[in-house]
Amino acid sequence: MQATISSVALSVLVFLALATPSSSYLRRLAASGGRRLYGAAATTTSPTTLPPIDVKKIGTAFPLNEWSSLGFEFRQTASFVQCEYKNGAWGEVQLKSGSDPYVKIHIGATSLHYGQACFEGLKAFAQKDGKVKLFRPMENAARIARSCERVCMPPIPAQKFLEACKCVVRENAAFIPPYGTGGALYIRPVLFGSGPRIGLQPADEYLFVVLAIPVADYYKGGLKPVQAVVIDDFDRAAPRGVGSAKVAGNYAADLLPNMAAKKQGYPIGLYLDAKSNSFVEEFSTSNFLAIDKKGAYVTPKSDAILASVTNKSLMELAADEGMTVEVRPVPISEVVRGDFDEIAACGTAVVVTPVNKILYKDQLVTIGKGDANVGPKIKKLYDRVRSIQNGETVDKFSWMIDV
Ligand code: COI
Repeated sequence: MQATISSVALSVLVFLALATPSSSYLRRLAASGGRRLYGAAATTTSPTTLPPIDVKKIGTAFPLNEWSSLGFEFRQTASFVQCEYKNGAWGEVQLKSGSDPYVKIHIGATSLHYGQACFEGLKAFAQKDGKVKLFRPMENAARIARSCERVCMPPIPAQKFLEACKCVVRENAAFIPPYGTGGALYIRPVLFGSGPRIGLQPADEYLFVVLAIPVADYYKGGLKPVQAVVIDDFDRAAPRGVGSAKVAGNYAADLLPNMAAKKQGYPIGLYLDAKSNSFVEEFSTSNFLAIDKKGAYVTPKSDAILASVTNKSLMELAADEGMTVEVRPVPISEVVRGDFDEIAACGTAVVVTPVNKILYKDQLVTIGKGDANVGPKIKKLYDRVRSIQNGETVDKFSWMIDV
């Protein structure tokens, strides 16, 4: 009797699987022994054939009131994706369970010994109309290729990068902060040498892993200004070093000064150029932007800083607002003299974080009014970029990409 019920139930399941729109997905799932596979071996490499996102699942991982208190920290989610480079080629994008958030790499892996590793940061947003979209993912795809080139790693093809990002977002729909909570699903692609080398050489094998983590503010308070300290006893990057690549080592170099700054009561550190120690480069987590007395958008020009997608977007919005945009060397003396009415850190994680005071040597410089409010120009740019990300305004630059 029991066997009869089971076989009836099985037939119903098979019927449902074959009758639903995503039946090919279910067949692939069955064929792969329950481990969902995407990419070549799973019949196609086209992201358009991935199962669509289940919008009913968006934000179901936590109760609504918990989304705004997320902060920016690692959280286990449903799944992550992984892609291996072996024998001179990238393989398929594979889905892995978030309950086992580990990867196995060789003890001689070049990422561990020689820092052959880079990463990206981008976000997916629940839109006002119920959809989910990625903010400018092809910019990140292009940047990770540049980072790979700088540290001799095989670049992940842009379409595979996009496919992996879409896949991880779709599979973690429950972890996407609902529209209106102010949060986003932060996507962290990481690419690193996983094969062994003990002499200094690039590896033969690499892993590309993409995690997705629900996040809210990086610095507590969102648009509430923070105080910064100029780090003048350490350098972030040498003029012809790897500062413009998003490689892991740049961030390791910042850990010690960053921890010291925090201990002094400054949540964010600002680096100067390594050669003359007199030009602003970038914050430890993000780019530097300022609004001068004439209302121009000013951001440093240097070969040693990371090309931020957020900064690029804000510059495009500033130009669209009719503001002058200046990408030029920015002497720290201009900051100290009070030439800027508004200053902010900008990047994917920090979004736009205003800075109201900057400690330079023994002098605490006040920026603008120095109060607890964001300045009007930066607020306007922040509101514009956030409304595009949230799907509240026309995306006239076509920045948002469907998941
Ligand atoms: C990002 O903004 O996405 C970054 O990767 C910066 C990191 C320090 C959180």
